[in-house]
This record gives sequence, structure tokens and C-alpha cells, in this order.
Amino acid sequence: MATITQNPDIRFLGRLLGDVIRAYGGDGLFRRIEYIRSASVDRARGLAGGDIDPGLDALTLDEALAFTRGFMLFSLLANLAEDRQGATTEQGSDLSDALERLEKEGIDRAAALDLLNRALIAPVLTAHPTEVRRKSIIDHRNRIAALMRLKDAGREETPDGEIIDEAITRQIALLWQTRPLRRERLFVADEIEIALSYLRDSFLPVLPALYARWERALGHRPASFLKPGNWIGGDRDGNPFVTADTLRLNLATASEAVLAHYLDLTHALGAELSISSELATVTGDVEALAEGGQDPSPARADEPYRRALTGIYARLAATCTKITGKAPARPAAHPADAYATPEELRHDLVTLAHALGGAGKGLLSSGGALGRLIRAVETFGFHLATLDLRQNSDVHERVVAELLKVAGVEADYLALDEEARVALLRRELGHNRPLSSAYCTYSDETASELAIMHAAADAHALYGPACITTHIISKAATVSDMLEVAVMLKEAGLYRAPEEEDGTPHSAIMVVPLFETIGDLERGPEVMTDWFALPEVSAVVCARGHQEVMVGYSDSNKDGGYLTSVWSLHQASRALAEVFAKQNVAMQLFHGRGGAVGRGGGSAFAAILAQPPGTVQGRIRITEQGEVIAAKYGTRESTAANLEIMASATLLSSLEQGEVAPADYARFAEAMSGISHDAFTNFRALVYETEGFRTFFRQFTPIAEIADLKIGSRPASRTKSDRIEDLRAIPWVFSWSQARVMLPGWYGVGQALDTADTGMLKEMVASWPFLRATLANLEMVLAKSDMGIAERYLALVEDQDAGRAIFDRIRDGWQLTHDRLLDITGQSRLLEKSPALDASVRLRLPYIEPLNFLQIELIKRHRAGEDDPRVREGIQLSINAIATALRNSG
Ligand code: PGA
Repeated sequence: MATITQNPDIRFLGRLLGDVIRAYGGDGLFRRIEYIRSASVDRARGLAGGDIDPGLDALTLDEALAFTRGFMLFSLLANLAEDRQGATTEQGSDLSDALERLEKEGIDRAAALDLLNRALIAPVLTAHPTEVRRKSIIDHRNRIAALMRLKDAGREETPDGEIIDEAITRQIALLWQTRPLRRERLFVADEIEIALSYLRDSFLPVLPALYARWERALGHRPASFLKPGNWIGGDRDGNPFVTADTLRLNLATASEAVLAHYLDLTHALGAELSISSELATVTGDVEALAEGGQDPSPARADEPYRRALTGIYARLAATCTKITGKAPARPAAHPADAYATPEELRHDLVTLAHALGGAGKGLLSSGGALGRLIRAVETFGFHLATLDLRQNSDVHERVVAELLKVAGVEADYLALDEEARVALLRRELGHNRPLSSAYCTYSDETASELAIMHAAADAHALYGPACITTHIISKAATVSDMLEVAVMLKEAGLYRAPEEEDGTPHSAIMVVPLFETIGDLERGPEVMTDWFALPEVSAVVCARGHQEVMVGYSDSNKDGGYLTSVWSLHQASRALAEVFAKQNVAMQLFHGRGGAVGRGGGSAFAAILAQPPGTVQGRIRITEQGEVIAAKYGTRESTAANLEIMASATLLSSLEQGEVAPADYARFAEAMSGISHDAFTNFRALVYETEGFRTFFRQFTPIAEIADLKIGSRPASRTKSDRIEDLRAIPWVFSWSQARVMLPGWYGVGQALDTADTGMLKEMVASWPFLRATLANLEMVLAKSDMGIAERYLALVEDQDAGRAIFDRIRDGWQLTHDRLLDITGQSRLLEKSPALDASVRLRLPYIEPLNFLQIELIKRHRAGEDDPRVREGIQLSINAIATALRNSG
């Protein structure tokens, strides 16, 4: 395929793809695809002759499928080429740059180090169903990326002697012949395996190496402040397939992977540290370790490090057998005691490191394989990544009500008001007698929840308490929602009341509210004030020193529209920071955001920097999901770049002075509240108060077809109802983006901006990172949306008059948003001031439009009852291809 781009990689890969299509599909197919492609490119450039319909109409069904695959693969290769140009060029996205930027503001390295020593930065992988590509497709893509890197290095051949260009063509040919759609629904076990591949192949090798680089930049060794987390097998909100078994499966496979890694590294270290006691001084500590190593080999009698490592290996092997139930592939030289904790293992390794560093002017001290192994043990423990638990507050309520009823404590908990609930739950937390009994029968739901609590307690005993640190409550709104979880944890001994009069309670797992509707975000600070006011809570939190609050971007968006969502999140964070400061507890915000802007997506660097002052303070967790995971963590290079961005942005956001003076902030905030209120009213009026909107949405977008895609183990709706309130945010955002409306990213904003003062808005954009980041994301969404294409989806709506009326409102809103945005940002067209993004979007648009047209046609046939399986396949392929081209699906 010839292409319209300046990026030579895209041209190169596009040409190879064209060769592959011609070779396997024949000249005829290639020419038909090429005809549509060039017509579409002409159309995008506004040239004459850009009519793509004749080309599409001429395709047979089989050709349409091939065409869709071709365009999908082109987008995949274009994404790859773009990723190679660097994850970001934002200034300060490198830790050294960030340190320099801080230094200019008078903040020195010691302050940065001090902050990082108290920090926790955690990307948390979730199984949220937005990744449409199969793992096999992503793996081929990554192989091409690796080959391109060899090409960059000036090589013509791979280490195996293959010509690189031929090897790339081979991979593209394999891509062409690999089925892009999954046949089977994904199971939780598949999702666990996919996440594990990123944790094992990207995080595990990359993080220790990154720390070594950061240590050099800082001039000192920082604590291990960046650690990965995940949700898969523990997040059971709306997913009946997540059970105690999946929780165990996740932890067991992760632990096996990390222990195997430690065993390999220890073995390799044994080969490396060949130091002879005849040629070097060896400390008594190392000698003692060597003695414990019981290595009988006379050849190693003078090699204390090797002997010590033989012992460490034996203990690690025993740890592996104890924890995983499986002996390692490479057996230990002799039996030994397992390490009880990762700290014990770390202690032995540090003993070796100190001894190495203490001699020879420290030549052997820093970094190296031993340094990386120590870092790995600190970061990944015996568990690899923390696993969070999550469930909906409604479920907790029912479970606790049943437990109380069966135990004869309270017949109708659900009938109690908040005050009575809190009083009752606190009484239960005041003693250690459990409510449940092995001799009673419970509903499946309660039994499953209890089993999860017990599985979590077992996991703590086996892998250490770092394996599960939080239990998140979706749709949290009250203090009782949080106390209910504490009561459930107590059933498995994970919450303990004080055993003596003056003792303190202990919670081995932190109870974390997720505030995710506009109302819940507004009330969040008050709920946290009441939470801290409870003496037992205050004691637990003070002992821990920090408390997490999770905030949800998607549901707040679905509830109140884009602007109100981001503004509510901003305000809630500020108000929460005040509550926490009063309590003298460190706040840890957990941002539940997705890839698309309607779900909080956009540049992570800008998003972290735009957090209100005082709300980060070194502690931040962020969800990473769906297609974002492959984009950020698909290769070691991109993993390193993205983790570095997270660390730098957190540092800058914690230490830089806010750009806005308090008096200006007060003015801006007042204006923003007015704008947000108007945007909210407009959004709700369309989505929740327009008669027939629900039907319009169901017919206009491919929501039904998306729900049918096999991209995740979780159902698309929380309940069986078709209310928008009950639909999960992901399919809501996903379906609007397929129809190129992207309504969750902008609707309501134009009307609100229209009544606001332009001068003031311009001033706000110039000096307020929050508004800048907000509008930058909105602009990207507008650039990817297309009302001309969207209008064609009207053909799918049965009641044309009603559909037209709703669509016209959407289109008018779009136009207003577009015009106001340009006015405020001083541009004559979208993305005028963001040339890189502009080029990327422009390159893609001509590849999406024909897919949209084809999708509409196939959906029409499908909904009219045509049962040729290729029609359904075509729809799914088109969804896949459009999502790939847009780069953020939902
Ligand atoms: P949730 O996530 O529905 O699992 O809360 C929403 C999202 O990430 O969009």
C-alpha cells in the first residue's frame, strides 16, 4: 500500500503490507483495496473524485472482510511506526529533566529524594474489556518492532542470519493470515495470563534497570517507590466469573514467575561472582553466609560469594517449593530452610552487596546484576504485583445483611438508616467473634464473598501482606459502605479488634472507597471526614500513615458529562486533600481512568501534572487498561519510557509550585463551577431527559454488536436493564467512538462555553494547567470525531424523524464546541498548535471512513436478519479495525 505520509517507517511498512496483500489476495483484491484507499485519501484532502462508495459497493462479502483486515493491519503498523518516534517529547518527562526543572525553581535533589523515599507510584493493570486485538496479533507486532530496532542499528541481518526486511515481510504475511477475532469468550484465566505476560516480560526486567538509572540521576539510592499492581481475578464488580479460585490462580502464577526469575538471577550471579578469598578481603558476614551455604565442592572452597549464593539458591528453591508447591526446574545442591519473607532474602543479598562495595573503592558496589536483584526483591516481593480486591457496595450490603441475620444479630439490616447501620457495624468491629459459621448455609453470593475473604487471608500467610493491600468499594457513598467491608474482612481475621483494653485495631487490608458519580464525588470529602472521626478507623489509619481514595473518571462522565466529571474530580481531590491534611494522614489517590478521553484518557504526563496542588504528594495509583496496556507496556523500551513519565510527572506534580495564585484560583474556580453547571444541565437534558434517547443510542451506535464481541470476561451491563445508568461506562464510550460521535468526550461543553466570558476563558487557558489539559483532550476527541460520517449512522435508526431531531442536537452541540474551542485557544483549525498529533490523526482518518461506511452497511444487513456468518464477522472486524485506527477504543 502506498501511503500519504512523511513518516518513512509508515511508508516502508505500508509498502510491505501491499506486497503481502498482492501475494496472498491477488492483484484484483489489491487493486480494489487500493482504489478505495486512494479515493478516501483524496476525499480527506478535499480533492475531486474522492467518492469511496462505488469502490465499497463493488466488493464481495469476502473481499470486504479482506479489505477490513487490510485497513486494520495498516493502522496497526502505523501505530507501531508512531510509537517508535518516542512515547512523548513533553519536557520533563525524563527524570533527569524533571530534576533539572525543579532545580531551576530552587528545589534540590535532596528534596526530590526525600519525596521519593516516602512515595508510592503504581500503575495498576485491569482486565477492563477494551483490547480488541488478540495476543497473537500483538506478539507479531512486537516482533516487527524488534526487527525495526535491528534495522535502526544499521544491521541488515538478524543474529540468526535472516535478512531483516525479509523477516519483517514474513511477520506481516503471518499477520495477514492470523485470524484477528477471538472465537471464544475470554475467561478470567486468559486475562490473568495476558496481564502476567506484561508483568513478567516488561515490568520485571525493566524496573530494576530503571531504578539504576534513577539512582544515578538522583545521586543517591531511592527507596523502591514504583511498584506494579493488578486487578485481574480480584475485581469482581459486575463480573460473576471472578471468584476465590481466580484470586488464587492469579497469585499462584505471578508468584511462580517471580520466584523463577529470582532463581535464574541467583544462579547467574553464582557464575559471575567468582571472587577468590585469596585475592580479595572478605567480610565475616559473607563468610558466615558462605558457611551456611554448605557447598561441599573443594573447587569453591576459596570462593565465598559463590558458596554463599549456593546457600541462597537452596533457600530460594525451598521457598519456591513451599509457596508454589513445585520444585524448581534446576534443583538446589542441598535441602535448606525456605525464606519466611522477601526481607530475609533481601538481607542476605544486601550482605553480599555491602561486602562488595566496601572494598576496592566501591568499584563493585553499585548496580550490576546483584543490585538489580536486590531492587527486584524490594519491588516485586514473592508476589510480583499487588492484587486489589473490588466489589460493588450493593453486594457488600446484601452479604453483611445476610451474615447479621443468620447470626441472629439483626433481622433486617437493609431497613436500618445510616446512623443505625454505622452503630451496629461498629459494635461488630469492637470484638473478634465472627458472624459466619461453617455450620450455617448461605446464599451463593455470600458464600462466594466469604470464600474470597478467606482466600485473601491465606494469600497473606503464603506470599506476605504486600500481595493484597486494598479492598475497593465501587459506588461507595457512605461510611457504612466502608464499615461493611471491614466487617467482611473481620470474618477472615483480616480486620482485628484490639485484644486488650488500650490496644489498637488492625486492618491487614485497607478499605478504599471508589467515588464515581458526580454526587458521590461531591459528598466524598464529607464521607472521609466522618470516616476519620471514628476512633477505631482513626487508630488503624494513623498506624498505617496513609489512606487511599479511588476516584472514577468514566462513571462520573456517564453521569454528568465530560466537563462536570473532570471538574468534580478536581474539586473533590482538593477538598479531600484538606480533609487529609487536618487528619495528618497522607492521601493516596487512585485514579480510575481508561484510554479514551470519555474515560479519563489522554496524556498521562499532562494529567498527573494537572492534578491540583497538594493532592499528589508522592502517592498515586493509576489504572492501566485494555489497549493502553499493549501501547505502553508492549515492549521494554516503551515500558521504560512510560514508567519514567509516571515517575517524573509525580515528582513534578508533588514538588512544583502551583502556577495559579490563590486569588486567581478563586476566580477561575467560580467561573468553572458556573460552566460546569451549564455543561451538566445540557448533558443530562440530552442523555437522561430526552424522550427516546435510549432507543436512539441502542439503534444509532453498534452497542449491541460491541456487547457481542469477545473481548473480556465481564458482561457489558451491570444488570439486565437497558438503562444507561446500568450500562457499564466502557461499552458506552466504545460505541460512541465507533460511530465517530465520541459524545462522552465533549457533549455539553460548547453550550456551556458559549455563555462564559471569552476574555476570562482565555486567561484561564493561559495560566491554568487544569483547563489546558482538559481542553487539549477535548480537542483531540473533536479531531477524531466526524459529524459527516456520524450522520450516516442515522440510517440505522428506525424512527427517522425522532432520530434526526436528536442527531441535529448532537451536531449543533458539536459545532458550538468546535467553534468555541478554536476561539478560546486562538486557532483557525483543530490541532493547529499540536502538529505531531495533527499529523497522526490526519494520517488515520482516510483509513477509518471506509470502515465506518462498511460497518453501517453490514449492521443494516445484520439487523434486518441476514444470517450469513460473514456479515457478523465483518461487523466485528470493522469494530476491531476502527478501534485500532482510533488508538483508544473505550
Ligand atoms: P468500571 O470501569 O466500570 O469497572 O468501574 C469503568 C471504566 O474504566 O471505564
